[in-house]
Amino acid sequence: MTGGGHGIGRALCHRLRKENCDIVVADIEETAAKKVAETVDGRAFALDVGNETELSEFVNQVEQEIGPIDLFVSNAGVGFGDAVTGAASKQGGQVACDDRWEACWRVNVMAHVYAARELVPRMRERGGGYLVNVASAAGLLSQIGDAAYSATKHAAVAFAESLAITHGEQGIHVSVVCPQAVATRMIGIEDDSDLREGGFGGNDVDGILSPEAVAECIVAGIDERRFLILPHSPVATYFQRKANDHDRWISGMQRFQRKLSEKKA
Ligand SMILES: NC(=O)c1ccc[n+]([C@@H]2O[C@H](COP(=O)([O-])OP(=O)(O)OC[C@H]3O[C@@H](n4cnc5c(N)ncnc54)[C@H](O)[C@@H]3O)[C@@H](O)[C@H]2O)c1
Repeated sequence: MTGGGHGIGRALCHRLRKENCDIVVADIEETAAKKVAETVDGRAFALDVGNETELSEFVNQVEQEIGPIDLFVSNAGVGFGDAVTGAASKQGGQVACDDRWEACWRVNVMAHVYAARELVPRMRERGGGYLVNVASAAGLLSQIGDAAYSATKHAAVAFAESLAITHGEQGIHVSVVCPQAVATRMIGIEDDSDLREGGFGGNDVDGILSPEAVAECIVAGIDERRFLILPHSPVATYFQRKANDHDRWISGMQRFQRKLSEKKA
């Protein structure tokens, strides 16, 4: 499990443990990975998924010391938001613009490519395996206010499609997970905030789900060998509407963006 130290990854570690899986928690934040590993009787690794050498050594070490990886979840992801001047801006916010694009590209896309390069040949040799790639509804629709996140999550969905098409008949199962808002640090909700008291840290994003609910959906999707896992069911309808009339969908998104900026002003 990459990015298993927090949020969706952590919840999925807990949920998969209930299925009696042996869990390996990998995260760029080693302390967080260790904390989760302790709770699932698993092993923790410090890993930057955007670094191919590190990822390859990680897979090697896990397979040598623990055993063959049957299910690999590429869950780590990053997003930074556009600068106020929008999608075409050269300016950065807290992180310089090109650094934001580069980080999104490495973590949201290349990490999935690196994992597949390392694991597909091993899984094929063993007669099969399962890759779960966590993308986002932003990879099917778009995230207003984050061009780099939207573009790279689209790429992540497209890469998962390629994997499924090319390697499905070789026994490699692929699922891509496309949630909308989930109550994690990614949308400004600190770990273990007031989530358990029924609130979401004051965040009022529509239809927000808990990471535990998303983990439940992912496990159900894996059980059914579903390619596209949509924890928020309306995403399927939005995606169909977009496919039916792309121009109309863009107009709708422009109206939505206007509404959001009026709310902020
Ligand atoms: N929270 C949402 O609203 C939401 C919606 C759709 C998709 N997602 C996706 O879900 C996935 C999990 O995000 P989350 O919401 O749980 O956020 P999160 O910030 O709680 O967790 C992300 C985890 O990834 C780790 N990470 C970041 N960069 C890494 C790197 N280079 N190498 C290894 N680990 C790294 C972080 O330390 C963290 O533990 C991401 O891919 C995200 O894009 C989140």
